[in-house]
Amino acid sequence: MRLAAERKADYCAAMRIARDLPSLRAELARLGRLALVPTMGALHEGHLSLVAAARREGEAVAASIFVNPLQFGPNEDLARYPRDEAGDLAKLEAAGCDLVWMPSVEVMYPPGRATEIEVKGPAEGWEGTARPGHFRGVATVCAKLFNQTGAAVALFGEKDWQQLQVIRRMVQDLDMPIRIIGCPTVREADGLALSSRNRFLSAEERAKAPALYATLQQVAASLRAGTPAAEALAAAKAGLTQQGFAVDYLALVEPETLRETEALPGRLIAAARLGSVRLLDNIAAG
Ligand code: PAJ
Repeated sequence: MRLAAERKADYCAAMRIARDLPSLRAELARLGRLALVPTMGALHEGHLSLVAAARREGEAVAASIFVNPLQFGPNEDLARYPRDEAGDLAKLEAAGCDLVWMPSVEVMYPPGRATEIEVKGPAEGWEGTARPGHFRGVATVCAKLFNQTGAAVALFGEKDWQQLQVIRRMVQDLDMPIRIIGCPTVREADGLALSSRNRFLSAEERAKAPALYATLQQVAASLRAGTPAAEALAAAKAGLTQQGFAVDYLALVEPETLRETEALPGRLIAAARLGSVRLLDNIAAG
């Protein structure tokens, strides 16, 4: 009896990897209810915090690693997107992941595919404007990941606030039987939100980068003190520009619809470039 129990424990500890749909289905048949963490790999503590939160849900935990070409624009960084399969698998295993779903582009998008999902509302504006088609790619791949895995729960980071709202909207609008959990942004000690793209910052840019989060916090404080949003945001943009950021947007929005607002509580969202690196961040305001 004892031996059998030990063997079962060993078996449970081993992380499984699926690269095509038949093996994914075979692996899923062994697992119970599933919590899914969708990623594009190059994993850091932000991703791993989602795996930890998934484990707390008490379900079996699957992570997907798929650099989704559909969500990259023609002039974006698909080719230079960091990839580290061996490192990612080691981190996921150490984090207690049960299953890794890592399809190739051919498995995810076989020839002849003709269906994409377009979310309006929260997908419009901000990242939706800066990256046309981006959220169509994100929504399509997430819908496929949800269907492929049949996950009961999926976890997303608040780091990508607009993405989280787009996924929530899609799940609600299409009656997808999955619960979406948003998890707090993991930051470096100096406040910079962890991102796979931070590695592309030069030493000088890296030293400047925490100013984005610091600025969001200053704006939130100034809004709480009664400064009109337009005034607080204009001052913050000017400050960031002076420090060398190219600010794409810095705005106060309704948290779920992403519509611009002057009223608290809201969400402060920002995208700003340092050199070739585009930094995203957001915090609650009010
Ligand atoms: P990726 O950028 O790899 O991020 C995977 C998940 O990790 C997302 O939910 C993202 O919000 C979360 N994340 C990233 N940095 C984080 C941080 N510092 N703290 C907390 N969570 C963080 O987002 C994507 O991939 C893709 O668009 C995807 C949803 C996988 C669809 O292709």
